[in-house]
Amino acid sequence: MSHPSFASIDALGQALQEAGYFADRRLATAVFLPLRLGRPLLLEGEPGVGKTELAKALSAALQRALIRLQCYDGLEQREALYEWNYAAQLLHMRAAEGRGEVGDLEREVYTGHYLIRRPLLQALQAPEPGAVLLIDEIDRADEPFEAFLLEYLGEYQVSIPELGTVRAQVPPVTILTSNRTRELNDAVKRRCLYHWLDYPERERELAIVRAQVPQASEQLTAQVARFVGKLRQSPFKDAFARAPGIAESVEWAKALVALDTLSLDPEVASDTAGILFKQREDVAALTQDLAREILHSEDAA
Ligand SMILES: Nc1ncnc2c1ncn2[C@@H]1O[C@H](COP(=O)(O)OP(=O)(O)OP(=O)(O)O)[C@@H](O)[C@H]1O
Ligand SMILES: [Mg+2]
Repeated sequence: MSHPSFASIDALGQALQEAGYFADRRLATAVFLPLRLGRPLLLEGEPGVGKTELAKALSAALQRALIRLQCYDGLEQREALYEWNYAAQLLHMRAAEGRGEVGDLEREVYTGHYLIRRPLLQALQAPEPGAVLLIDEIDRADEPFEAFLLEYLGEYQVSIPELGTVRAQVPPVTILTSNRTRELNDAVKRRCLYHWLDYPERERELAIVRAQVPQASEQLTAQVARFVGKLRQSPFKDAFARAPGIAESVEWAKALVALDTLSLDPEVASDTAGILFKQREDVAALTQDLAREILHSEDAA
C-alpha cells in the first residue's frame, strides 16, 4: 500500500516550501518514506519546532483536506471516531411508533444516516483524493486510546459494532505528533515510521524568519536566528529551563520590528525576553549581561 507520492525527496521538499514550510533533506526524507511505504509518520520533538505545521503544509502540498484530531487527557473513542445521534434516532422511533409502524426499528436507526462522523471516520471515508489526518499531541491522550488506534494505524480500518469494519477508500496520509510528555506505547511506534524533529539549523531558521517576517532587516533576521540558536546550545542553554522554538523566533522578530529595531543590542534583547520564554525564571535569566555575552560569543567553526 502506498500513498500518492512525489517523484523525489527534492520534489517533496520543494512542494513543502511552496506551502511555506522549510524542511532540510533529513526531514524531507522522513516525510517521503511514509508516503512511499503507505505508513503513518510519528513526529516527536520539542514544542514549537514545526510538527503541527508540517501536517498542514503536507496537506497543502498534496492538495488533500487536512482532518485534525486534537488529543487531550480524557479523549474518548466517540469523539475521535463516531457517535450515534441519539436524539435523531429517538425522534425517528417515536414518529414510526406514532404511525403505528412495526418493523425492525433498531436496524433502521443504526445506519450511516444517524452516525456522527468524527475525525478518524471522516478521514477513512474521505473521497478521492483522500485526506491528511493529523493526530496531534497523542501523548496527551491516555493509553487505552493509543490501544484503540492500533487497528487504524496498522490497517487503515476500524470496527464499528453496529456497522462492521470500515476500511479506507483511500488510505489517509497520517501524521501523529508528540511532545514526549510521556513515552508512547511500543505497539503504536511499531506501526509508524519515526522522526525526531530537532531545532533547525541556523540556515533553515533564517529562511523561516525571513519568509514570515519580511519586514525585518536582513541584519536583524540574521541576528535573531543566531541569538536563538545560541540560546539552545551549550553553554547558554543551561541558564534556562526551556529553549525557545521556531514559533518564538518568528514572534521575536515581529516584536523587534514593531519596536523599530534595526539591530539587536543587549538592552532590547533583555527587555523582550518575555517573547522568547514563557516562564518567569527564564525571562529573568536573560539579563543584559547574558545577552551581551551571547551577542559577542564566537560562532563555532
Ligand atoms: N519548517 C518550518 N517552516 C516554516 N515555518 C515553521 C517551520 N517550523 C515551524 N514553523 C513556524 O513555527 C510555528 C510553530 O510550529 P508548530 O505549531 O508546528 O510547532 P509544534 O512543533 O507543533 O509545537 P507544539 O509542540 O507546541 O504544538 C508555526 O506556526 C510556523 O509559523
Ligand atoms: Mg503542535
